[in-house]
Amino acid sequence: MVAPQDPREEVIQAWYMDDSDEDQRLPHHKDPKEFVSLDQLSELGVLSWRLDADNYETDEELKKIREDRGYSYMDFCEVCPEKLPNYEEKIKNFFEEHLHTDEEIRYCVAGSGYFDVRDHNEKWIRIWVKKGGMIVLPAGCYHRFTLDTDNYIKAMRLFVGDPVWTPFNRPHDHLPARKGYVQNFLQKEAGDSPINAAA
Ligand code: LAC
Ligand code: NI
Repeated sequence: MVAPQDPREEVIQAWYMDDSDEDQRLPHHKDPKEFVSLDQLSELGVLSWRLDADNYETDEELKKIREDRGYSYMDFCEVCPEKLPNYEEKIKNFFEEHLHTDEEIRYCVAGSGYFDVRDHNEKWIRIWVKKGGMIVLPAGCYHRFTLDTDNYIKAMRLFVGDPVWTPFNRPHDHLPARKGYVQNFLQKEAGDSPINAAA
């Protein structure tokens, strides 16, 4: 019997990336494909939810997450040439490996995109977030973003208090946020995490 699928997996899928230099908007699966579970992502501090993107204005589940986590600020970021000022430059900057000193919280309400994060061994994991998928990348977690070949995402951006979107391109290992991330998620005892155990 096949285990019932976690509903989040219909809108959030993750896999290890190949090493090719081809278009960043392609999936970049390994051959054979090597998927990463949402539990493995949570070992890296990456949180995920599946929400009702057609009703985000009245969604009680979203309201509760915002209350529980203190996400008082909210806006939308639409990534397409017509809606995003300096589109080409932004697209390029989004794909530079960087971190933030706060969480990066993105709820995809339309379209889709790839958030790439590093695993415990520095390997890139590609996280595909589609309509209804919401993820939190912890403060200090190196990552990058690209559109996929559909070329469009509309994301709700949440934040605790006044938003700070500043990217610190790698390397910025001396920042307290980075040190905290390394301590909390990368330096766990070997055997503590399924990712370490499999390495
Ligand atoms: C950001 C994403 C694109 O920093 O990583 O907004
Ligand atoms: Ni970012």
